[in-house]
Amino acid sequence: MTISVQGVVARGKGEPVEVTTVEVPEPGPGEALVAVQACGVCHTDLHYKQGGIGEDFPYLLGHEAAGVVEATGPGVDDVAPGDFVILNWRAVCGRCRACARGRPWYCFSTHNASQKMTLADGTTLSPALGIGAFAEKTLVAAGQCTKVDPAIGAATAGLLGCGVMAGIGAAINTGGVTRGDSVAVIGCGGVGDGAILGARLAGAQTIIAVDVDEAKLEWARGFGATDVINARAADPVARIRELTGGFGADVVIEAIGRPETYEQAFYARDLAGTVVLVGVPTPEMRLDLPLLEVFGRGGALKSSWYGDCLPSRDFPMLVDLHLAGRLPLDKFVSETIGLGDVEEAFAKMGRGEVLRSVVLL
Ligand code: APR
Ligand code: ZN
Ligand code: ZN
Repeated sequence: MTISVQGVVARGKGEPVEVTTVEVPEPGPGEALVAVQACGVCHTDLHYKQGGIGEDFPYLLGHEAAGVVEATGPGVDDVAPGDFVILNWRAVCGRCRACARGRPWYCFSTHNASQKMTLADGTTLSPALGIGAFAEKTLVAAGQCTKVDPAIGAATAGLLGCGVMAGIGAAINTGGVTRGDSVAVIGCGGVGDGAILGARLAGAQTIIAVDVDEAKLEWARGFGATDVINARAADPVARIRELTGGFGADVVIEAIGRPETYEQAFYARDLAGTVVLVGVPTPEMRLDLPLLEVFGRGGALKSSWYGDCLPSRDFPMLVDLHLAGRLPLDKFVSETIGLGDVEEAFAKMGRGEVLRSVVLL
C-alpha cells in the first residue's frame, strides 16, 4: 500500500522543478511516515536540481523540515504517531568507528528509509539528503525524526534541520567558541547568520560580520554582530585585524565555500586561532597556501559538516533556548510560500533577497 501525495520533483538537470504526485510507502521496520508542516528552501536543493550533487534524477527536493509523525513501522520506539519532530540527515548508526569512539556527530553510516518513494508511474525518487520534504508526507528512517517542543512552530523549527544548525554548530561545536572570544564570520546568509547567533550564544565578545551586501550586513547586526565589514569597500583581513587589537580573530568562520574567502579566513585569524569552513565548495576549487604559514601560525583548520551536530542533543536544546527568548530563530524566516513557489524561491535565493523561504504545507 502506498499513499499518494503532492511533492516537488526535479526531473532533469537544470529543468524547472514541478509539483507532481508522489507515492509514499507505508513505514516498514525502523521507518516513520511524517506529515510535513514546513520545509525551508536550501542551496543544496538548488544544487540537486542543477545536477551539482549527482545524476540520480528524479529528485524529491526539500530537507529542512518539521512535521508530525503520522505512523511508524515495526521496531520503532523513539518516536510515536503525534510527535512533533524536526527531520535530520544524521540518524546515527551507533556502531561505526566514529560512534564506537563516542563521536556520533561524525557517524560514517547514517540511516535513511530503506523503502523508496516513487512517481505515479513507479519511477524511483531520490530524496534530497535522504529526506525529500517538499511533500505533504515523506518516509524517513525513524532516527531522522528528532522530537522537540511543538510550541516553537513548524516554520522556525524546520530551519534547524539544515542550514541554521550548520551555522550555529560551526561556531559552538566545530569552532568551540567560548566566552570572551573574538569571532569573524565571512558570508552572512542563513548559515553565516546562524554562526553569528551561535557565537553570541557561546559568549563571544567581538563578532565581526563580513559580506558584500549591505542588507545582509544589516541583518547580521540584528543577529548579534558587533562590527560589520563590507568586503567590497574594505580589505576584510586588514579590517578584522584592526578590530581585534591588530592580531586577528580567535575563530574565523567561512560560510560561503570559496577559495578567496577561505584564504581571507586563514589570514584573518590570530596565532593559534581556528578556521572553520562551513560553506560548501565545488569540485574544481583549489587552495594555495604557504605551508610554512600553515605550520607557523599553529591552531586549527577545521571543516564543519552539518555543524558537527548531534540532532538528539542539539535540536531540543536550541528549540528550548528559542522558547526561552535567547535564540531568535524566527528571524531566519523571510517568507512563507506554497509547494508551487519553490522555483521562484530559488530565484530569490540567487538574488540574495531572502535568508530562508519556507514552504508551508
Ligand atoms: N565576501 C563576503 N561575502 C560574500 C562574498 C565575498 N566575496 N561572496 C558572497 N558573499 C555573501 C553573499 O552576499 C551572501 O550573503 O555570502 C553569503 C552567502 O549566503 P547565501 O548565499 O545565503 O548561502 P547560505 O545559505 O548562507 O549558505 C552558505 O553554506 O551550506 C552552504 O551551500 C551553502 O555554500 C553555501 C554556504
Ligand atoms: Zn555511526
Ligand atoms: Zn540544506
